[in-house]
Amino acid sequence: MESDWYEKVLRSNIPTTVFGIELSGAKKLIGVALLKNINLIHRNAEFAIYIGDKTERGKGYSFDATMKTLQFGFCQLGLNRIYLYVQTENKAAIKLYEKSGFRVEGELRASIFKNGRFHNEYAMGILYNEYKK
Ligand SMILES: CC(C)(COP(=O)(O)OP(=O)(O)OC[C@H]1O[C@@H](n2cnc3c(N)ncnc32)[C@H](O)[C@@H]1OP(=O)(O)O)[C@@H](O)C(=O)NCCC(=O)NCCS
Repeated sequence: MESDWYEKVLRSNIPTTVFGIELSGAKKLIGVALLKNINLIHRNAEFAIYIGDKTERGKGYSFDATMKTLQFGFCQLGLNRIYLYVQTENKAAIKLYEKSGFRVEGELRASIFKNGRFHNEYAMGILYNEYKK
């Protein structure tokens, strides 16, 4: 299911940059961080992150990878806004995003149907001038 998501991103024609998250020295790929729907006219893109190796969660790697991806988006691509969608129940991801400077911009009601029921999502975003601070 999760690798399907990854395959779909790789095969899509949407402008996307995918970074592998690798443990330095160990040559071990533990996850991915990406910017998709990169729009250079409106200067925005959507962020997502996934640590596939569950034993490597909770060690700060996602925070590092998120900050590096924001730096790439804002400083290399010249973006003005990076946004994401996260299920309101996904406390780990929300904590990571708030720590990285994203703020909740709104709540989408019943926007996901998963495991037999609808779930709400938060729309979160960070602007370049907020990142700079
Ligand atoms: C969400 C996810 C990327 C977090 O990755 P991680 O490597 O564990 O995160 P980090 O170790 O960098 O932690 C970042 C912050 O989030 C907090 N956090 C991480 N997991 C947490 C959890 N289960 N509950 C509460 N807080 C959590 C950490 O405590 C840390 O904050 P702190 O430094 O103030 O303590 C990871 O759990 C994951 O891949 N989940 C499945 C995919 C997913 O949900 N992606 C997001 C889709 S929108």
